[in-house]
Amino acid sequence: MEMDFFHIKKKRPQQVDTNLLPIHVAIIMDGNGRWAQRRGLPRTAGHVAGAESFRRIATFSKELGLQYLTVYAFSTENWKRPQEEVGTIMGLLRKYLQEAIEEMARDHIKLEFFGDLQSLDPELRDLCEQTREISKTYDGFQVNVCLNYGGRDEILRAIRAWSADCGAGMCQPDQLTESVFSNYMYSSGIPDPELIIRPSGEIRTSNFLLWQSAYSEYYFTDVLWPDFSSSDLLNAIASFQRRSRRFGGV
Ligand code: FPP
Repeated sequence: MEMDFFHIKKKRPQQVDTNLLPIHVAIIMDGNGRWAQRRGLPRTAGHVAGAESFRRIATFSKELGLQYLTVYAFSTENWKRPQEEVGTIMGLLRKYLQEAIEEMARDHIKLEFFGDLQSLDPELRDLCEQTREISKTYDGFQVNVCLNYGGRDEILRAIRAWSADCGAGMCQPDQLTESVFSNYMYSSGIPDPELIIRPSGEIRTSNFLLWQSAYSEYYFTDVLWPDFSSSDLLNAIASFQRRSRRFGGV
């Protein structure tokens, strides 16, 4: 089998077989606050650095040949954070979306959003809708930004929508299958992530892609998200490629 190797300056990443890449990688972008605190900076500076890290990793994922990248940008629980911090994250999202609209046209990156966009400020919501609309014409690499997203909330919304369809006579409870139910998720039509990465040393799923992660491989690393590099992504993929996935079989 032909092996391709990626050589990154400074740190030498582990070897990755580009013929066996995961189709869909998801990332919990964690550790922005600690990254800033360790440098004596306000937490918000960590989110600015985290947003740059997102841009680097999204670009590299496309170059590498991944088809889908899903990132956890803001959870349904993150509203509990100080107003200033929430404002900074929302501001960053607005800034990045405005820039992304131009970059998408150039690079043909498709952007989608998973989450309840209704409670976002109207300007950000409009930008999300606008980005979605423009993206519809592109295929190829797709980035899904989870925004005001919660895994349990996603499942409840799917149940409500499916129940309403049943009430309207469009479906029958005894005919519900996993694949039918998947179509009620934000991720409808997108394959489940084979690999979920969580930087920053935390070892939990934090309500991320609860339905879609049933058979995902997890990769945890102590690296904080703003420091997460292309080499770290390659190391995560190399670890994934060494694993034996049995999906409950032998
Ligand atoms: C978790 O780190 C990070 C967040 C809740 C926000 C993530 C947002 C960004 C990376 C910026 C905007 C995103 C895009 C897609 C442009 P934390 O604050 O919980 O870190 P800590 O655990 O060290 O406190």
